[in-house]
Formats: sequence, C-alpha cells, structure tokens
Amino acid sequence: MYKIIPVKPFDFVLFGATGDLASREILPALYHRFRVGQMPDNSNVIGVSRAEHSDEHFRNLASSAIKAAPNSEPPDGDSLDRFLRCLSFRRVDANGDEGWDCLAGAVRSDVPAAYYLSVGPSVFENIVCRLREHGFARSEARIVVEKPFGQNLESARRLNTILTSTFDEAQIYRIDHYLGKETVQNLMALRFANALFEPLWNGQYVDHVQITVAEKLGIKGRQDYYDRTGAMRDMVQNHLLQLLCLAAMEPPSRFDPNSVRDEKTKVIKSLEPILPGNVVRGQYFSENSGDGYLDHALSSSSRTESYVALKCTIANWRWSGTPFYLRTGKCLRNRVSEIAVTFKRPPHVIFEGMDGGQENVLAIRLQPNEGITMQITIKEPGPGGMRLASVPLDMSFASSLGQEIGGLTNAYERLIMDVIRGDQTLFMRNDEVEAAWGWTDAAIALWESADNRPVAYEAGSNGPIEADALLHRDNRSWRKLTL
Ligand code: BG6
Repeated sequence: MYKIIPVKPFDFVLFGATGDLASREILPALYHRFRVGQMPDNSNVIGVSRAEHSDEHFRNLASSAIKAAPNSEPPDGDSLDRFLRCLSFRRVDANGDEGWDCLAGAVRSDVPAAYYLSVGPSVFENIVCRLREHGFARSEARIVVEKPFGQNLESARRLNTILTSTFDEAQIYRIDHYLGKETVQNLMALRFANALFEPLWNGQYVDHVQITVAEKLGIKGRQDYYDRTGAMRDMVQNHLLQLLCLAAMEPPSRFDPNSVRDEKTKVIKSLEPILPGNVVRGQYFSENSGDGYLDHALSSSSRTESYVALKCTIANWRWSGTPFYLRTGKCLRNRVSEIAVTFKRPPHVIFEGMDGGQENVLAIRLQPNEGITMQITIKEPGPGGMRLASVPLDMSFASSLGQEIGGLTNAYERLIMDVIRGDQTLFMRNDEVEAAWGWTDAAIALWESADNRPVAYEAGSNGPIEADALLHRDNRSWRKLTL
C-alpha cells in the first residue's frame, strides 16, 4: 500500500548549511528520502555558508547530524556513504560577490535546482539579489523560504516584493512545517474523501473547535529570537492559523495548489478581529528552578508572551456562532498538539437520567501518537439495564500504518520532496501570508497599545487560569493536556 515514487535528479543548494535547522531537519530529511530510494543517486546537495569548509568537513557534519537525528532508525553504512557522495560545499559571501561564480559552476542547467534559504531574514534580500544577478533564477528553479516570514504585515510585504522581483510566485515555496505533518494532511483526507463528516462540519452540528499546540520546552537557548517574537508571531500567525484554515475551509474544487490555497485564504479573510476580552497572554515562571521565562529573556522586565489563548470567530455561513479556541504555549505540562472538533449534543435526549453520555469529539492528534480519535457514546457493556459510556474509537497512525511503511514520514521529508516535484499545495502563497499578518497585527496592536503585561503561569502547568476562564464563561473547558 505504500509506494515510493522517485523524483527526478535535482540540485539542492542549501544556504545556511552549517546551521542548526540544516543539521536537525534538512540534511536528515534528505538522507531518509535517499535511503528509501526517492532521491536519486545523481542528485547533488550543495552546502553553502560564508565560512570556508572542505567537502569532507561538510560530509562529516552531515553524517553526524544524520546519526544524531531523533526518532529515526540508525543509518545503514552503505546508503549513508552513497548519500554523502552527493554532498559538496561552496563558500559564498551572501553580502558580497565572492563565491557566486564558483557556485554557478556547480549547479547543473539540465536538472531542476532548489535554493533553500535556511538563513536569518537579514541576509535574505542580498541572497535573492545575487541569485538574480548571477543567473540562478531560471524558470525551472525553486526558492524555499523558512519562517519567520516577516515580523508583521509590512515586513512580510517587503519580503514578498523582494522574492517576486526575482522569482515567479509559482517558484516560491514558503515553508510552514506544520503543513507537512502526516495528520494535518489526513485532516483534508478525512474531511474531503469521506461522505460521513462533511454534512456535519458546520455551525449547525459543531459546538466548537479547539486547536492546541502545547510544548514542554521553554525558551532557553532561543531567547534571542523568541523574546523579540512571542507566541502570537512565532506560532499563531503561522502554525495555528494554518490548522484553523484546514479545519474551517470550504471543500476546494480540486486538490491542487491554488484551489486549496484560495480556500484557506478565504478563511483568514473571514476571521473577525480579535476582541480584547477574547485573548489571554501568559508568561511562565518558576519559583525555584531559575528556569522561568524572565531568567532567560533578553530583559528581566520582558513583556513577551510565551503563551496565548484566543477565542476566534469566523464570519461566514458555515461557522457563524461556532467559536474556534486556539492556545499555544511553552513550558506546559506536556507536548500535545491537536485539533478537537466537539459536536453538539443530540437535539432530544431519550436516555434521561442516565450518566455516562458525552458530546462526540473528533480529535485529530498531530503529536505525540499521531492519529484520529472519535469519542462516541455507547451502551455500557454487560447485563443490568441501560447505562451509557463514552468510549474512544481510536486510529493511531503510527501503530496501524507506521510499521507497515517503516515509520511515518517527517514533515521536512515530505515538504522537500514536494519542492522537487514542483507541488506547492502545502506551501503558503503571498496573499495568504499577508492576510495572516494583517489579522495578527491587529491582535498584537491590542496589547501593544494598552501596554499590558502577560499574566503569569507556572512552568509545567496547563497554562494560566485566565485561559480557563475564557472558556468557562462560555460553559466550556479546555481539553486536558494528557499524552
Ligand atoms: C517552530 C517555532 O516554528 O515550531 C518553535 O519557531 C516551536 O518555537 C516549533 O517550538 C514547534 O514545532 P514542532 O514540530 O516541534 O511542534
């Protein structure tokens, strides 16, 4: 049932090749696709950075990164050696002219080339300009851009202008790695390949939707970036809004990049502006460990939020009256990401006075234990009359499908192969990113103009009690952050 379709040979030029993301995600992802036979032997991975390294040094670095990659089988010697032979390194000065001609000599003209910018936004413009000046922006070239895609609408627009002055929109791949997660795509299959859910997928039957991305780790080690960014920009503007779009969008007429992205963009444009009373910002503290947010922040009076909870409403026919509650935070009890759709109770109760029945909840789990669970009410088994019980119908992908396919594909593996295949469905379009920033900026302006402080929550907890109150006031409560 699982089929590997090899891509055509390609050149993959990795800017920021010695950086953290390259080691953690990109190089291991390429190796795994090579090992299963999807990346052909005659493809080239050209590592680029401003420091001088030999090919040998880059191969050693890649080899260590692949061996250290979490959640993957240990590499086998033969495939690793063959993969490493595809790697070479070029020193290029992103801010000057050094190295570009040499790089041009290494990129073949008869295979597609992908230019992956795993670099900070400050060198972004220079790299794109040099790519244009040195003739890299050929029609079959692709450019891949990592987040953060701007800090606000204005900077995102500027990045889009820079990119589109050199590349056509059809060549630009803006990565949101959440879109590459197995379950996220399964949400589309679940909704649009089954007749069962779609008739119920609207405000008439859905009580509310909860989208949670809870993380266990704090900001230690990433404070330079994080303290200038905060949860709203780091997570909500991109990952959570993308999940909301996939849960809320209308069925596209076809599963092609523009049809899907048109529908997602419509959702973002239908989001009502956040009201001040519908947002809770939090910052974690730790009484004893010296590991609270402010212990690592750039300033001990930082007002950056490490947690945000929102009540969002979508102004369209499908979702009128059905709130979407979003929450994300660092240093919470567990690492749990899910989309949970809670259906309304049956319109008439015939089992009066019988405990045990609950609303149907369809939970789409992104991590850990990727899978889908449907909470349904059944008769409690056994004799002795009619009693109700709520039980999960569980489909865990890792155990039911993962073993068969030798482990689930990681988001970067899928997204990189999509770049090579030229499939933009799982990448964000310029208007989509800008619409997301427009909505996010308006929310951020609420607290920036009021100069307010985030509320405190204890590290390792479920988040601030004020976030609980946000739902209690609607007679609802957050799902537990259990594994
Ligand atoms: C990144 C954010 O985009 O996503 C990080 O910058 C966050 O702050 C990470 O930790 C979460 O990704 P995942 O795949 O580990 O849930």
